[in-house]
Amino acid sequence: MGESNGSKAVACPPPDLRAPRIGFIGAGRLARALSLALRAAGVPVVGVASRSEASARALAGSLPDCRVGDVEAVARDCDLVFLTPPDGLIAEIARAVPWREGQSVAHCSGATPVAALRPAADAGARIGGFHPMQAFGADPEAALASLPGCTVAIEAGPPLDAVLHDLARRLGCVGLTLPPEARVRYHASGGYASQHVHALLAEAVRLWRSWGATEQQALDALLPLLRGTLESLARSGVAAGMPGPVSRGDAGTVRLHRQALQAVDPDMRDLYDRLCRRGLALARQAGRLDAAGAEGVERVLDASPD
Ligand SMILES: NC(=O)c1ccc[n+]([C@@H]2O[C@H](COP(=O)([O-])OP(=O)(O)OC[C@H]3O[C@@H](n4cnc5c(N)ncnc54)[C@H](OP(=O)(O)O)[C@@H]3O)[C@@H](O)[C@H]2O)c1
Repeated sequence: MGESNGSKAVACPPPDLRAPRIGFIGAGRLARALSLALRAAGVPVVGVASRSEASARALAGSLPDCRVGDVEAVARDCDLVFLTPPDGLIAEIARAVPWREGQSVAHCSGATPVAALRPAADAGARIGGFHPMQAFGADPEAALASLPGCTVAIEAGPPLDAVLHDLARRLGCVGLTLPPEARVRYHASGGYASQHVHALLAEAVRLWRSWGATEQQALDALLPLLRGTLESLARSGVAAGMPGPVSRGDAGTVRLHRQALQAVDPDMRDLYDRLCRRGLALARQAGRLDAAGAEGVERVLDASPD
């Protein structure tokens, strides 16, 4: 069975799980991406249920031999059911579905404990977590294209762990075994590579707007810089390749930035200061700033911005 980074040795699954018939409960963005990827990998998705029949039909329509049904039918007909409603409904749906002994149920939430599926375990099912570290939007083809190379956090006991690692491998993903107590921290880490990047670029766009430019003009200028930053991160890691005045010990430029940002919004300057202090620590860690250079920037950050 598939072994991936971070996975431990796992037992061979029983016959019904070597080629599981897969079902989805919840036909949203993640289910669409995952089911299309499974189809492309030759893994049969045979049943789907959702709150609205229209969503279930839209998903089933893109898959061969996939039936739309209610949750009871999906639980009855599938060996492995992915529970993919919004996080807040996982426990409630797990309680409501008549699971059967020997089948497997996995949710795809990063922050929800696998124990939310306890009612399925009580009915004799195997339970697990299968969380791809990726943000899937409304466009199913784009979502599908963004899946290969992703890390998928897998939490399950044997033999379901082997099945989920094998599925991750067949999707071109990297299966990762997480300690259960790290689950929420792991999920929060994703925010720094996704949600918080949006929040930071929103700050930058506000600056462009302050002289009358548009968001589009800002993004046209900043996205090539962001792409270069991503390449540098992939090449050199978080500390070694960090650009900018902090890593150069350029205290004068940091002073000018603070004055300009203070004039737009003191909160914006405050966030800038906090990020500069994190950058200082990184520059020191990478050996790019000596003590004197770091102290020069620190003095500026400690001073009044006006
Ligand atoms: N999207 C991502 O980027 C992403 C990434 C990793 C993990 N996840 C996880 O994947 C799961 C689903 O997220 P999502 O982004 O795909 O959400 P979503 O697009 O909002 O889809 C949720 C789906 O669940 C259906 N649903 C709602 N209530 C239901 C119920 N009572 N019974 C059955 N189905 C119900 C929805 O209804 P309709 O039938 O009305 O459409 C919708 O199709 C979450 O656990 C999330 O944390 C998402």
